[in-house]
Amino acid sequence: MKTLRVGLLGLGQIGAGFYSLLASKRDFFRREIGISIDLVKVAVRNKDKKRKKSVPKSLLTENAFEVVRDPSVDVVVELIGGIREAKALIGEALTRGKHVVTANKALLAEAGDEIFDLADRKKRWIFFEASVGGGIPVIKALREGLVANRIESIYSIINGTSNYILTRMTEDKSDFREALREAQEKGYAEADPTLDIEGIDAAHKLAILLRFAFCGNVRFKDIYCEGISRIRSEDIAFAHEFGYRVKLLAIAKASKEGIEARVQPTLLPESHILANVNGAFNAVLIRGDQVGDVLLYGKGAGPAPTASAVMSDLIDIAMREAGRLNEEALPMRAIRRPLKIKNISSILSRYYLRFHVVDRPGVLAKIAQVLGKHRISISDCVQKERSAGNVVPLILLTHGAHERDVRNAIRRIDRLDAVSGHSQVIRIEQ
Ligand code: HSE
Repeated sequence: MKTLRVGLLGLGQIGAGFYSLLASKRDFFRREIGISIDLVKVAVRNKDKKRKKSVPKSLLTENAFEVVRDPSVDVVVELIGGIREAKALIGEALTRGKHVVTANKALLAEAGDEIFDLADRKKRWIFFEASVGGGIPVIKALREGLVANRIESIYSIINGTSNYILTRMTEDKSDFREALREAQEKGYAEADPTLDIEGIDAAHKLAILLRFAFCGNVRFKDIYCEGISRIRSEDIAFAHEFGYRVKLLAIAKASKEGIEARVQPTLLPESHILANVNGAFNAVLIRGDQVGDVLLYGKGAGPAPTASAVMSDLIDIAMREAGRLNEEALPMRAIRRPLKIKNISSILSRYYLRFHVVDRPGVLAKIAQVLGKHRISISDCVQKERSAGNVVPLILLTHGAHERDVRNAIRRIDRLDAVSGHSQVIRIEQ
């Protein structure tokens, strides 16, 4: 029987989910896989806190470094999140020869090179399946199942909170604030929702996907990131009139000039498979040159799905330790090539443009003229009936245009007397 002695950092929602899963499945793993996963120490903020599932006091410590320095610990499971403290703890664990399992996407996105280099030098495993898509085994799919493929693109919904908010805005016609409040009440969105609604959490996850899809290092700041906080319910309604839904997508696309890597609200045709991923669900659509499209769909967050991914990593490490698995096909040490990320201003896309304009003769012509001067061709156009205040929404869809041209044109249009407020720009994908 191979025994893996685990030190756990964090007993919040996710840590407690992992603890419960281990308690209920430990015997099964011993019996069916011949692996004993033994929890030997758990770091918590407050030992005396009342917990739903009681944990023996003898396991608890308020000093997380005690866990990573414990000579009897083989693997540290980091579930505290955040960057600074987690980085110090993981660094110490690897330095002391322990393997690491983490769900920390922010840390891996922003300091992945350092952490992976250290793991490499110390010849320790670091696994992080739970960091992207919660319970969806997307990292394993990229590193193992799809290894025979050159990845051409990834289109993904990897922030459940944003997807929940956009779904509520679409189905209930609620506005952004109401939908956000509902997401907070349901426990999807944090009290400070910035990371989720501004696209940062999705960009962290995309950085990790990029590393393994395209086998290279990526600087987090090179990923274009735009969240959903500027999406209005009217945009969702107008998109619907044109046959589209609004989704927050994390996109990676290979091209000759580099890789497009962006997180952004996107109009998708209603028939697109990702347009029908609703609520807090996640989905990752990967296109490989051999396999074509592969869709992974499931729960991207929550204690049980996240614990499922963490446990799979632990079993993986135990199997390697026991000599029952060889190295994976795409080991971390192969990933050293800096990836060239295309600047957002050079991408080519179709666009949804929404202006609030004064309804008087010549306004549409003026806007069309600015767009024409910037080589932007209109493919569809709707203006709504006159409403109070004489300001009406004008919606234009464009043919393929360069982002740089669109930004310059919008800057000009927003300065026109007849245009009020800031115009809305949303990219369209097919
Ligand atoms: N906050 C994330 C989401 C879950 O809403 O998808 C953790 O990654």
